Amino acid sequence: MKKVIITIVFLFGILQLIRPTKNIGNGDLSRSIEVKSPMPANVKASLQKACYDCHSNTTKYPWYAEIQPVGWYLTNHVREGKQHLNFDEFLNYDSNEMDEKMEEVIESQTEGWMPMDSYTLIHKEAILTAEEKNAIIAYAKAIRSSIGNVNSTGEEVREKEEK
Ligand code: HEC
Repeated sequence: MKKVIITIVFLFGILQLIRPTKNIGNGDLSRSIEVKSPMPANVKASLQKACYDCHSNTTKYPWYAEIQPVGWYLTNHVREGKQHLNFDEFLNYDSNEMDEKMEEVIESQTEGWMPMDSYTLIHKEAILTAEEKNAIIAYAKAIRSSIGNVNSTGEEVREKEEK
């Protein structure tokens, strides 16, 4: 029994040596969504507390991210989130992609699937009020209408260009 425990503690110790690279950007916001469209302060505050951990170049890590395999799990989540949507690299999308991302952001807030439950379970501050969600939706809608595929009421007005 003692040997088993010692082995487990030893293996757990080894795990701690394999540390994932953290998502901590260099603060370069030159390709951020805010360059596309100035972001109202309340929208920025909501996105920062509820979305940026997984959809920006800078994650605020909780202390337990230092413990493996929790850190690996978080790293994968962040990588996947950023692959789908990165607010800090928004200008890298072409206009149809921007439009689609904003459509999805609107959907995520009307349907309530972001941030995901496993996140809000721990990050209570990321549970957004109806008012906060509506402000995000209004911002995303404004970007969509500035791109011109939809009008201000969200109606499609232009065929998407072929890539
Ligand atoms: C804990 C990490 C995490 C947080 C926090 C988070 N997301 Fe996500 N998000 C993901 C992951 C992972 C995916 C991709 C897998 C999926 O769709 O479930 C994703 C996918 C999305 C997509 C789909 C993008 C596409 O093109 O497929 C949208 C839109 C989105 N998130 C918006 C948001 C918004 C808005 C917030 C904040 C209100 C938010 N997310 C918070 C991890 C996160």
